[in-house]
Amino acid sequence: MVKEEIGGGAAADAIRPPWLHLLSAFLAMEPSDSLISISRDCGGGAITESVQNFIWDQCISRADGKGSAPYIRSFLKKVILEIESAGAVVADELYEQFAFNMTSLKGDDLAKGDSRIIRKISFLYPYDHVEAQVCQSPRKLIVPLQCSLNMLEGDTGCSIWPSSLFLSEFILSCPELFSMKSCFELGSGVGLVGICLANVKPSKVILTDGDLSTLANLKVNLELNHMSTRFGSSQGILEDPYKVKCLHLPWESALESDLRDLMPDIVLGADVIYDPECIPHLVRVISTLLTTKKSTPLHRGGFKVPNGISGDTLLKNSNASSSDIVNRRYEEFLLASTTQPVAYIASVVRNIDTFNYFLKVAQEANLRVVDITQNVKMLDFLPYMLSYQRSSVRLLGIYHSFH
Ligand SMILES: C[S@@+](CC[C@H](N)C(=O)[O-])C[C@H]1O[C@@H](n2cnc3c(N)ncnc32)[C@H](O)[C@@H]1O
Repeated sequence: MVKEEIGGGAAADAIRPPWLHLLSAFLAMEPSDSLISISRDCGGGAITESVQNFIWDQCISRADGKGSAPYIRSFLKKVILEIESAGAVVADELYEQFAFNMTSLKGDDLAKGDSRIIRKISFLYPYDHVEAQVCQSPRKLIVPLQCSLNMLEGDTGCSIWPSSLFLSEFILSCPELFSMKSCFELGSGVGLVGICLANVKPSKVILTDGDLSTLANLKVNLELNHMSTRFGSSQGILEDPYKVKCLHLPWESALESDLRDLMPDIVLGADVIYDPECIPHLVRVISTLLTTKKSTPLHRGGFKVPNGISGDTLLKNSNASSSDIVNRRYEEFLLASTTQPVAYIASVVRNIDTFNYFLKVAQEANLRVVDITQNVKMLDFLPYMLSYQRSSVRLLGIYHSFH
């Protein structure tokens, strides 16, 4: 039986990889081809009877997500074809569910109805990482998110973009960087980064977006994740006991005086560098947030600034190879992060001209932009998410140069 094969118990907590990956991929509504591939791994190369039972018991019969019926129908169709083409027997439950979905769901349901779905993103803590922690970390963090099937809805803010998966993994890999820090996100979209931030004990989280329908969807997601919030405008956020705040913040109209009042320790952004028209406004906002110098040093656990290093000694180091230069720039960024606010911006470079334009405008605003992708500690929290290409994302560390 499946229950024995998946590790001594049917309880969801006892499920181990690759079965856990199959369940997580299903909950995240990964493409059917990915589910089929993981299903084959579970069955040692074939979608065996045990795998079919698991798909039924743990995935399909428990599905409660909004808008999941068309997704399940499409997955069932592919999995049945796959099993049949291998000459194996398809479990009755899978046939019956497919027949039920076919008759109850009309082809044009999606076009007429709500295009919103609930995807549940499971961050699976790597085992050695959990064991290394003295305190009991949860083995997984599951984040349900209302998203749109239309990638352009809410000015693109109602879909999950790869950079937010990357930034979320970075936050969970290095929680000490964000603990007790006031964090401020630009272009928060569905809120994944903010929800991960709220799990690493920041002193405050402010999530912002310029699109009102995206903000409304973000509020739904905070509620889905049991987070209280309060909305404000850039003209004034009410001080309240809630840690997570949402703010309508179009970069074009954000006032410098309002931004200066926010004084975050850390600014974050995922997939916000893509529209050349917005870039000067985005850079102005980042620059204003990063020039608010604090009088006391920011002590950032986890950042090890090499002993005796100062900005000057780093800059004077000559005859450096390109990897030396990368490391030196990273060390300069680390050094800056101990005394002033810094930004972490994750980005997929889809158009090199747009990216270079961002770098140019940032340089003109006295911002130092450092590609720290290779330098930071990143754990793989999403091993089941075959559609996510971590290597396509760059992580930029940004700070203001006061020299
Ligand atoms: C590609 S989405 C990324 C969303 C989310 N960070 C993620 O990675 O999943 C870009 C986000 O930036 C927001 N945005 C775009 N232009 C903006 C502007 N001019 N002012 C404020 N927000 C803006 C959009 O509303 C959207 O939520």
